[in-house]
Amino acid sequence: MSVTSKTKKFTARSFLKKKQKGEKIVVLTAYDYYTARILEEAGVDSLLVGDSLNMVLYGKDNTLSAGMERMLFHTRAVSDATEKSLVIADMPFMSYQPSIATAVTNAGKFLKDAGAEAVKLEGGIEMAPTVTRLIELGIPVMGHIGLTPQAINRFGGHKVQGRTEKQRNYLIESAQALDEAGCFSCVLELITAPVASEISQKVKMATIGIGSGAGCDGQVLVVNDITGMYDKFKPRFVRRYADIAGQIKKAAEQFSADVRSGDYPSDEESFLE
Ligand code: KIV
Repeated sequence: MSVTSKTKKFTARSFLKKKQKGEKIVVLTAYDYYTARILEEAGVDSLLVGDSLNMVLYGKDNTLSAGMERMLFHTRAVSDATEKSLVIADMPFMSYQPSIATAVTNAGKFLKDAGAEAVKLEGGIEMAPTVTRLIELGIPVMGHIGLTPQAINRFGGHKVQGRTEKQRNYLIESAQALDEAGCFSCVLELITAPVASEISQKVKMATIGIGSGAGCDGQVLVVNDITGMYDKFKPRFVRRYADIAGQIKKAAEQFSADVRSGDYPSDEESFLE
């Protein structure tokens, strides 16, 4: 899609500008063409094609098996729909961890083949050299620290981060390293609100919180959580604005009743000649 004169493209630099102006940044996940269009029309700044799709679209218990093929496929659908919002592709488990060369090849695919404008990768200070290289090659990078779901087996569950001095130091050191490496933004997931605030004040990049309190420069949530499409469980930090799963169920129940009673289709819904 082309950017018309009426639209102002949100870019990686816009994250930094918004932070400098003290304006909050709005990010939601998106996985398909029509949802992406609706979110853009609603004025969402940036759409993240998160590997959370493995759970909320494909019914898996975690994000580990999302894989490049699936992520590229959904990123293409979202970027095809998007004119104004910045599209960020989440790099799936083991698509960037093995080596910098692997990260470059796979991040390149998101921009070259799937139309993403930035990538996100999980990890702290240990990922800084990878981030530096990607940025050198012209690939904007969003970091992701705190409870990083691809390391769920190491964390042993969804545990809030930053409660111990050791965790706090690691998170601050990591945020500063990713900032210096050139990330335009960083997701702070499930970090105590005071530590997330402290990080946000210490770094130039925009912090985007999820379950990390109000002191972040912006917020991200999973679209299927806020719409109630995913109703398997609701984390404490999720605010639900709709009950789409309930609405679909009601519609399907009514359709079933109408077919069974002979009420559907009516003459108006048929071609009588
Ligand atoms: O995969 C995802 O959707 C994410 C966000 C929730 C930050 O990483």
